[in-house]
Amino acid sequence: MRSMLLLLCSAGVIAAQSQPYGFGQPATAADTAQKDLTVFPNGKGLPSGKGTADQGAAIYKEKCAECHNEKGEGRPGQYPALVGGIGSLTSAKPLKTVGSFWPYATTVWDYIRRAMPFDHPRSLSADEVYAVTAFVLHLNGLVERTQELNEKTLPAVKMPNRDGFVPDRRPDIKSKR
Ligand code: HEC
Repeated sequence: MRSMLLLLCSAGVIAAQSQPYGFGQPATAADTAQKDLTVFPNGKGLPSGKGTADQGAAIYKEKCAECHNEKGEGRPGQYPALVGGIGSLTSAKPLKTVGSFWPYATTVWDYIRRAMPFDHPRSLSADEVYAVTAFVLHLNGLVERTQELNEKTLPAVKMPNRDGFVPDRRPDIKSKR
């Protein structure tokens, strides 16, 4: 008797699941394009656009310096530094910044586009992101003031910590570079 009841119940659930729920709508190409933001280390996913550190300086002053300070030194205890710490990662006091820690310039671009300015994320145009990324990299001594960053040149910027990450060595984790 008990199993009979269970059978009846599950038949009811299956019937309910085959009904459409009656809400939501198929995602359009524009909907998915909005979410499809990932930029890969080799530059795949970067939109076309361009900018230099010189152009980025003004954007940085207006939209980033309030938190990250004039030269990217951050505000201790409040907002992270974006510069410095190169070579400090193996010391007793590692300072992780864009310059010392981030392995790919393309990831910096991706992060700034998605998440910054912290109080207005996704408000920058592609050109503004190229320019302000160039400025942050320039503050770290990694690109020249007038060097144009675009979807071709950005992936070619070699970050100091590019080779600083090692695959997990545990035998049951099949990770490799
Ligand atoms: C209102 C304050 C604020 C503003 C304005 C702001 N940021 Fe940030 N930023 C933050 C905070 C807070 C974090 C840390 C977020 C976290 O760890 O989740 C951060 C993190 C970052 C990081 C990653 C740092 C790291 O090494 O982890 C970058 C790069 C960055 N911001 C760039 C920018 C740029 C470029 C702008 C201007 C376009 C900007 N930020 C504007 C508050 C701000």
